[in-house]
Amino acid sequence: MAKRDFLSLLDFAPEELSQLVERAGTLKRKFLGDRSDQPLKGHTAAMLFQLNSTRTRVAFEAGMSQLGGHAIVLNSEDTQMGRGEPISDMAKVLSEMVDIVVMRTIKHADVIEFAEAASIPVINAMTSLLHPCQLLADVQTFEELRGPIQGKTVAFIGDGYNMCHSYINAAHQWGFNLKIASPEGYRPDPQILASTNNATLVETAEEAAENVDLLVTDVWASMGHEGEEADRRAIFASFQVNEALLDHAKTEALFMHCLPAKRGEEVNETVLDDPRSVVWQEAGNRLHTQKALLQFLLE
Ligand code: CP
Repeated sequence: MAKRDFLSLLDFAPEELSQLVERAGTLKRKFLGDRSDQPLKGHTAAMLFQLNSTRTRVAFEAGMSQLGGHAIVLNSEDTQMGRGEPISDMAKVLSEMVDIVVMRTIKHADVIEFAEAASIPVINAMTSLLHPCQLLADVQTFEELRGPIQGKTVAFIGDGYNMCHSYINAAHQWGFNLKIASPEGYRPDPQILASTNNATLVETAEEAAENVDLLVTDVWASMGHEGEEADRRAIFASFQVNEALLDHAKTEALFMHCLPAKRGEEVNETVLDDPRSVVWQEAGNRLHTQKALLQFLLE
């Protein structure tokens, strides 16, 4: 059977994504109860990180351990890749030694190149283009609290970057409506936007937030945009999420942020602690969804 990769939400069929979220729920119940099941005993994951990570890395590393397997974390500069070993050579070598690779890189093309050369599954742990793992946790969190996300309306407010792109893909795959409000010059990739009828651009944060079931944002200057923070603070000023903006959404609406957050920028000082915010549950669900993903790709 051909190996499967998870580089984008579009790599899986909608029913496979729903199965993953369902399996994550089962794994969460097991995590809170009997942890003796070790379906990945004897399996090893290599995790290549070119960029910082807390949630993604801990979720995969703890996840492999809880499932009975082992994870090796490799910061790119510690490997021969950091000294110029070609990506495709590294992919062929790791394919001889481990069962799965988790990769966080700046350039999305690097993950694609690695996956094409590897004979084992490769997971995109975030690139400048996409962050598909985060969306699994976001959908699990919404569905735990509010039921199926299909048919619901979501607002993405802020930088039209990797999180926004993955929300566009998620809107297509799970069948929800997405309203996006970003400043001019920071709107999502037009090709990704045009890939679905479920996502639309609106002008203001208030217009996006109006009557939605879920409101989402991300930092204004993601990794790779260091040095642009001051400019972006001025450009994005009217796109901050605060309680007043959340009041435009439905009364039962939820607020999510993939974290880390910058209080005083894309969120005010208090909204992460608002009762409508579910950011800690969302972060915790990274563990369960990523375990479900590892199991899906390895079994
Ligand atoms: N949300 C997210 O991917 O967090 P980390 O960068 O800490 O992994």
